[in-house]
Amino acid sequence: MTRESWTTRTGFILAAAGSAVGLGNVWRFPWMTAQNGGSAFLMLYLALVLIVGVPGLLAEFVIGRRARRNPVGALSSLSESDRWGVVGLIPVVTTVFLLSFYSVVGGWILRYLVGSATGAYFDAPGAYFDSIAFGPEAVAFQAVFLAATAAIVFGGVRRGIEAATKVMMPAIVVLLVGLAAWGTTLSGAGDGLSFFLSFDAAYLRENFFDVLGAATGQALFTLSVGAGTMITYASYLGEDRSLAADGATIAVFNTLIGVVAGLVVFPLLFAQDLPVGESGPGALFVSLAGAFSTLPAGRLVGVVFFGVMTLAALSSSISMLELPVAFLVDEYDVERRRATAGLAGLFLVFGAVNALRPAVFDFVASTLVDLLLSLGLLCFLLFTGWVLGTDATEEFRNGAGSLGRVLALPWLYVVGVVLPLGLTFTVTTGVLGVANVSLPSAAVAALSVTAAVAAFVGLRRSRSVL
Ligand code: ALA
Repeated sequence: MTRESWTTRTGFILAAAGSAVGLGNVWRFPWMTAQNGGSAFLMLYLALVLIVGVPGLLAEFVIGRRARRNPVGALSSLSESDRWGVVGLIPVVTTVFLLSFYSVVGGWILRYLVGSATGAYFDAPGAYFDSIAFGPEAVAFQAVFLAATAAIVFGGVRRGIEAATKVMMPAIVVLLVGLAAWGTTLSGAGDGLSFFLSFDAAYLRENFFDVLGAATGQALFTLSVGAGTMITYASYLGEDRSLAADGATIAVFNTLIGVVAGLVVFPLLFAQDLPVGESGPGALFVSLAGAFSTLPAGRLVGVVFFGVMTLAALSSSISMLELPVAFLVDEYDVERRRATAGLAGLFLVFGAVNALRPAVFDFVASTLVDLLLSLGLLCFLLFTGWVLGTDATEEFRNGAGSLGRVLALPWLYVVGVVLPLGLTFTVTTGVLGVANVSLPSAAVAALSVTAAVAAFVGLRRSRSVL
């Protein structure tokens, strides 16, 4: 059977932007910004999107378009080695964990969407979150969210994902910009905006490493880099065009949405004098629900806000489900609808553990997913630099303009050498953290550099490229 492809360039850009724009922008970004000093975090995050996120995104695009297969098939076919196919299983595992916690938050959002319309949380916003967050009802709403995700993926690349994101993305922009414009008219909103937009150099100096770690994780999470979803989406590209231009467009769009989300959330919180920066995944829900319950037209604003979050969450969750679906379709010839239904059922089982056990949810949503994304991206970067090598620059140049053609070689050295050195540090720190081992920073750095150099030497011996 012929493999599907996107109908238009805009269709691909909107779908990939949809994968990027999600809870990371509307829920995690304001939460992380609030916890890490506001504007200080914002500056570092923007820099990391540019330095790590965009080159990583382009590596995934290059792998996907070159192979026109899912991540497992892409790595094994391009390297002509089954061992790289095993590495390609990392993103499959990542999407299982990613969607298993993401769908819990998707369920919360649906619940708050209904709660805004009925005013269910207006009397006791804090107690409301505690009563719905974990338990059988959370599983029920999670199931609805997964069913909506599966319904879109069911339709395939063009009639499902492309058609849905063509409607969802413009709707997100219009509604979010409308909410931001309204937010700035609230009394006291100026404090929120200045917290978000004015640069606090002293905070950054005192907390540099903490803010750096949080900003790196957020940069990967928000662009969906390291999960392999962008490899999958790029595998449906049917023609040669500038991957660099598409990647830059997606990164700028995603960042703007994050900033506009901040322009909605912070004025709302400050105008109501509500606590900003409490820890925990539920803090933002509780704070916003508190704001909506006291504002005039709070129900309407709540419905619009949680409506935007629903669209943003769905535009990302479909890319997480599409990856393993593509894996089963490409590698085992499973019929798309069967693969989608079977996997959605499986995700519900995994997801239910997250929806029933807060400790599992916390571990998966913060620690495990960040670690898997960094590990996945590290593998893709090493593959691009040391296995694809000149094939990668050729693919990068296909369809690119003169600037893109010039950037191809520096990009290859950045993804093959510079970023792997940095990411090995992140992965080593993450693994030691999970294993509960604490070492001095210098020892971690030495361990990371040794591991990275060993990987470079090993890869160069097996297939000398860089
Ligand atoms: N990139 C997706 C998000 O930001 C995962 O939610």
